[in-house]
Amino acid sequence: MKLTVCGSYDELSEAAAEMIREQVSEKPESVIGFATGSTPVGMYKKLIEMYKTGKLDMSRTVSFNLDEYYPVKSSDSLSYHRFMYDNFFDAVNIKPENIHIPNGETNDPQKECEEYEKAIESAGGIDIQILGLGRNGHIGFNEPADKLYAKTHLAKLSQTTIEANSRFFEDAESVPRRALTMGMASILQAKKILLLVCGSEKRSAAAELMSSFITTDNPATLLKLHRDVTVICDREAAGK
Ligand code: GLP
Repeated sequence: MKLTVCGSYDELSEAAAEMIREQVSEKPESVIGFATGSTPVGMYKKLIEMYKTGKLDMSRTVSFNLDEYYPVKSSDSLSYHRFMYDNFFDAVNIKPENIHIPNGETNDPQKECEEYEKAIESAGGIDIQILGLGRNGHIGFNEPADKLYAKTHLAKLSQTTIEANSRFFEDAESVPRRALTMGMASILQAKKILLLVCGSEKRSAAAELMSSFITTDNPATLLKLHRDVTVICDREAAGK
């Protein structure tokens, strides 16, 4: 695992965007796994700037998002679908037919999850997966548990996550209790992984990540099984 500690959120966003820009410039038809949450917003802004100044061309890029609340309408302002279009997709030249986000409107979540896995496979697998880190160490919506799911599945949000994510909703009651999310194997099968961590509230999950252990109580620690993980964090998350 490669660790970079950045002095500011701006620096972290720039470093993350630069990694994505390099990936797309080396392989324009890259398959990129995108993430939502506050952490990658700065990276999306930098990527938009790169696109506007001719440094990034996403016309051949394929995307797969990590997760989506369930049930949720894509048009809902708090869906991850809306988040991605508002914060990124609408401002760059990625083709709508190349964008994949789990469908939070489906009546058949199991079928949706199976088809999502197949779609990733037929795209040739994910070249680079971007991840944020939950306060409890979750990645995507893979919450701490005795057993973790391997593949894309319908997950139950933990109380910690409901409370953390309530800042985007009217109150904790309005946060959906479930989500469709890539599983641990779906994530670990990506060729490269880029984990972004910022803020002091992530410090303890980040410290576990940097410890010598792997535990399903902190799903992010399983990233240590992967050969090519880059962690970019700010000083607040890195602590000492
Ligand atoms: C959410 C998402 C994760 C995200 C995490 C951290 O629950 N499912 O994919 O990484 O929370 O979010 P933030 O960056 O807002 O702290």
